[in-house]
Amino acid sequence: MTLTERDLRPADAEAAWPLSIEAGWNQNVIDWRFMLGHGRAIGVADDDGSWVASALALPLGPDLSWLSMVLVTQKRRRLGLGTRLLRRCLEHVEAQGAAAGLDATELGRPVYLPLGFRDLYRISRWHIAQAGAALPPPSGVRLRPMTEADDARVAAFDTTHSVMQRGYILAHLRGRRPDLAWLAERADGGVAGYVVGREGRTATSIGPVVAADATIGLALASRALAAAPGPFLMDVPDSHAAVADFLRACGATSPRYFIRMLKGDLPGLENDGAIIALAGAELA
Ligand SMILES: CC(C)(COP(=O)(O)OP(=O)(O)OC[C@H]1O[C@@H](n2cnc3c(N)ncnc32)[C@H](O)[C@@H]1OP(=O)(O)O)[C@@H](O)C(=O)NCCC(=O)NCCS
Repeated sequence: MTLTERDLRPADAEAAWPLSIEAGWNQNVIDWRFMLGHGRAIGVADDDGSWVASALALPLGPDLSWLSMVLVTQKRRRLGLGTRLLRRCLEHVEAQGAAAGLDATELGRPVYLPLGFRDLYRISRWHIAQAGAALPPPSGVRLRPMTEADDARVAAFDTTHSVMQRGYILAHLRGRRPDLAWLAERADGGVAGYVVGREGRTATSIGPVVAADATIGLALASRALAAAPGPFLMDVPDSHAAVADFLRACGATSPRYFIRMLKGDLPGLENDGAIIALAGAELA
C-alpha cells in the first residue's frame, strides 16, 4: 500500500466527506468546503486516490487555532496516521505562535494526551427529536432576528465571552440559516447574547449560543429550536445544569460527550460560563 500525504483543498470537499460519514458525524459538504476554504487541512490518500485520513486547523485569531476533522478510516487505524496529521497541523499552528484547541471524542483523547493537550471541560452532545415551546427572555431583554448589520457587534460580543475570534464563522452561519440566527438585545441596544445554527447531514445543529446568562441563553436556544423542524443536535458544557434540565424536559438524550482540550496558553478559554452551546466540535 502506498499512502500519500497531500493538502486538502475546497475542491476535495466531496471526496473527503465519506470520512466523516463513516464516523457517523453530522457535517455536510458545505461544512467541509467552508473548513477547507478557511483552514489549513492535510489528508492522506490511498493507492486508489481515496482519502483515508484528514486533520485541519481553523484560525480563530492570531492566538488560537482550532483542530478538527481528525479522521482515519477504520481499515487504516492504529498505523500512526492520526498522530502524524495532527502533528503536521500542530507544527503549522505553533509556527504562528498560537495555542491549539479542540473538542476530543473518546477515541481522539488518547491520541491528544501524549501530544501535550490538557483537559479544560466536558461537553455533552444532546439529541433533540422535537423541541417544546420557546422560553421568553428575562425582562429588559428582547429577541430579534440577526442581520448582516449585526455581524461586527456579534463578533465583538463573542470574543469578549469566548476569547475566540471567529466572526467569519458566525457570519457564515447567520447567512446560511437566517431562520436560526437570533440576537438578544437590552433596552439600550447592547448585545446580551446570540444564537446561530446550520443544517447537517443527520440533524440541524444549534450553536454557538453565547449569552450573558443562562436564562438569556435558554431563551435564544429555545427560539432557534422552535424555528425549524427537528431532529436537532446541541453541544452543551456540563456546567449548564439548567440547560440540561430544559433539554431533558424536551425528551432529549445525551449519548456522547466531548472534552475541550488545549495545548499552549490562552487565558479565559477554560471559562465556559457564557458558552451555552458550541458551534459543534469542528467549528469551536
Ligand atoms: C481517533 C482516530 C483519528 C485515531 O487515528 P489513528 O490513526 O488510529 O491513531 P494513531 O494510530 O495515531 O494512534 C496513536 C495512539 O493513540 C492511542 N490510540 C489510538 N486509538 C486508540 C483506541 N481506539 N484506544 C486506545 N488508544 C488509542 C494509542 O496510544 C495509539 O498508539 P499505538 O497504536 O502505538 O498504541 C481514529 O480512531 C478515528 O478516526 N476515530 C473516529 C473519529 C474520531 O473520533 N476522531 C477524533 C476526533 S476528536
